[in-house]
Amino acid sequence: MDVSGSVVNDDRMKELKAFDDMKVGVKGLVDAGMVKIPKIFVRPPTELAEELNCRRTQIQVPVIDLSGIQRGDRRKEIVDEVKIASEKWGFFQVVNHGIPLSVLDEMIDGIRMFNEQDLEVKKQFYTRDLMRKVKFNTNYDLYKSRTANWRDSLIISLLASDHLDPNELPPTCREAAMDYIKDVRKLGDTLFELLSEALGLKPDHLRSMECANGCSLACHYYPACPEPEVTLGIPAHSDPGILTILLQNQISGLQVLHENQWVDVLPIPGGLVVNIGDLLQMISNSKYTSNVHRVLVNSVEPRISVACFFSGPVTAPKLYGPIKELISEENPPLYRDVLLNEYIAKFYSRGLDDKFGLEHYKL
Ligand code: OGA
Ligand code: NI
Repeated sequence: MDVSGSVVNDDRMKELKAFDDMKVGVKGLVDAGMVKIPKIFVRPPTELAEELNCRRTQIQVPVIDLSGIQRGDRRKEIVDEVKIASEKWGFFQVVNHGIPLSVLDEMIDGIRMFNEQDLEVKKQFYTRDLMRKVKFNTNYDLYKSRTANWRDSLIISLLASDHLDPNELPPTCREAAMDYIKDVRKLGDTLFELLSEALGLKPDHLRSMECANGCSLACHYYPACPEPEVTLGIPAHSDPGILTILLQNQISGLQVLHENQWVDVLPIPGGLVVNIGDLLQMISNSKYTSNVHRVLVNSVEPRISVACFFSGPVTAPKLYGPIKELISEENPPLYRDVLLNEYIAKFYSRGLDDKFGLEHYKL
């Protein structure tokens, strides 16, 4: 790199470090009355121009009504809908999923209260310590990404152990999070059954592979932004794990790339967004699609979302690859097997805007 380049990089590093050291996140900047967003958040003009080539459209990701799921005839229809959505979109929304509206609303309110509480209290949770089960920070990939993103997150990780002591959670969202985690994991079990059946496998196939075992929650807060057109809440990416269940407040911003068009995933009251992750694309031998999505920010209201990532037993050297039952002479394996712990370490060694994907694992 030339001298001027490294000076620019040094300056950027200093800015990132100064921002991180304040421990106030993006919301802290907004609260301090900032009207022009700092350089570290501004995306390069080339990236912004590229986006203009992708049109925005009014079509919607499929919405699947899960009521009557235990009735044989209805279940078959639901499995068919899940199959089509997982193949063509990699995204769908579910309604009548069994999680009470009060549990969803309280989770969103809890995350709002956590983020909007006194800064000095919130700062106590600020850390990048990988060993901590519960941590608050901004941009988990702050030092690795090319551009910082307009978002703060509370991360709750159940990857290393299933047990969560409620006292580790911030009081502002403690009860709400305990209730939500219990219910969302149950819904995860149901979805893994449907996804197994839609692959023509026994209902417990994906669960018996421990797909539902490791989960973590990323509770995002995207503050209103004075210059929403030059930055992003989350850059275009696909989720690295197996399956994601996403709760969003009634503020839109999430978009999925479908046939080279950005499609808004509009919030439905009581609905949850479900999307296929890279590992599920891999183990389904590309029957299912892990799709690219991103989050735009707006200048009016904060967006709040809670992503529950099911990633499998990622702390173990467990081998994952295309499911044997899906492989035949006509359907040869498209991916090589991977060790989950190595895979996830590789993911965390990069920024989210550094397209990771499955390319390295293709045969
Ligand atoms: C994610 C994600 C979307 C959202 O956390 O991976 O895509 O709406 N979140 O917050
Ligand atoms: Ni995502």
